Amino acid sequence: MGDDARILLGDRELELPLIEPTRGDRGLDISRLRSELGVITVDRGFANSSENPSAVSYVDGENGTLSYRGYPIEELAGRVSFLEAAWLLLYENLPSRPEIDRFEEEIGRYAIDRPYMDDFLDTFPATSDPMATLAAGVLALAGLHPEFSQSSRPEAVEEAVRILLADIPTLAALINRRLLGLGPIRAREDLPYTSRFFHTALAGSDSSPLPDPEEVAVLDLLQILHIDHGQNCSSSAVRLVGSGGASIFSSIAAGISALSGPLHGGANRAVLGMLEEIQSEGGDIEKALHRAKDRSDPFRLMGFGHRVYRNFDPRARIIKATAGEVLSRLGKDDPLLQLAKDLESAALADEYFAKRRLYPNVDFYSGFLYRALGFPTEMFTVLFAIGRLPGWLSHWREMASDPKGRIFRPRQVYVGRTERKLSEDL
Ligand code: ACO
Repeated sequence: MGDDARILLGDRELELPLIEPTRGDRGLDISRLRSELGVITVDRGFANSSENPSAVSYVDGENGTLSYRGYPIEELAGRVSFLEAAWLLLYENLPSRPEIDRFEEEIGRYAIDRPYMDDFLDTFPATSDPMATLAAGVLALAGLHPEFSQSSRPEAVEEAVRILLADIPTLAALINRRLLGLGPIRAREDLPYTSRFFHTALAGSDSSPLPDPEEVAVLDLLQILHIDHGQNCSSSAVRLVGSGGASIFSSIAAGISALSGPLHGGANRAVLGMLEEIQSEGGDIEKALHRAKDRSDPFRLMGFGHRVYRNFDPRARIIKATAGEVLSRLGKDDPLLQLAKDLESAALADEYFAKRRLYPNVDFYSGFLYRALGFPTEMFTVLFAIGRLPGWLSHWREMASDPKGRIFRPRQVYVGRTERKLSEDL
């Protein structure tokens, strides 16, 4: 493009190399800024910064599109399985039939016979937050697999990837059973990935009928739509923790913790709570919008707004289009869905939201589908975590194999007390 970039600081000047992307924003390489000019940058919320180039997924916030390894989500949704999409993220291309069959079989081997999980979960009170329990369970896995704690050997990473892809859904399924008061069950080796999770999470007993393929397909679709999203908060947490040399297990546990917050994945739980509250107070949408706009009120429109999207979130578009049809097909019409649609229309017509370009994000409609499939609200963010897991694993692998990778260690503009002397203050 021929542009050059320079920073002038007093009478000193620094030329900044530009890093060209394949799509989207160009990068300004400021790595010589401090050594040459003696200053650092401040960028609250990293809104203008990238620590690392990445090739996993691409979010075009202006146009409202998302692609995984180059494929738009609209092309993948309903055409590939979640596990095929996971392979695509991890290994850059869609798998061949033998590759995906072997992957499924390798994961299946770890997914069964994990007796420690029941003992582990027994130590948690029934009221434990499912995301906290899940993160703790992943750390317990690290304890069970000390052989991976220091190793980033490619073969060890590949095995750890399979263990995590197998064990996190099993752990999540057992957490779900406890929430629903269901007794113990064994994960079935003969079922494919998403069906196995579905069955382990919701079946009344080992001998219950297999899950309805249409319901499994809905969950599979949701998981594909959540699989990756650029340098989001939880993927960045995985990379940050991993950059210090922490194991892949510890890094994924950090990702789960980061996802749990209501401004990130926790929003999917909060949306239904918000809608129920609006409904119970008479369904007054104008009042809800008024509160969301009031800076002195902490209330925000949950499931609305996004750091990157300044247009419709394409995931929300697909989920919204699917929700009404799936709910009526499953005979589970949800009165809150109409309220959500009315709230969306009112917000989009409101000057406050239009001016700030705030649109529904992935969390606005997903809860309707999770609920129709039989999952309790407390589990929604755990379901998001299972979907995002291949993205986290892909980011960890990308981070660990980057020859230019360094420990994430931000600088600081210190604004605290200047040096004091104890002898003068006593
Ligand atoms: N309701 C009301 N106002 C909002 C909302 C909202 N949901 N989201 C943003 N705004 C306002 C902000 O108050 C700000 O107003 P101002 O310019 O007058 O100060 C403006 O829009 C810009 O918002 P920021 O705070 O700069 O947005 P940021 O990029 O920091 O945060 C976030 C993005 C966290 C998603 C925010 O929009 C939000 O809190 N949304 C609700 C929670 C949510 O749905 N999170 C899920 C996101 S998707 C995901 O992580 C999976």
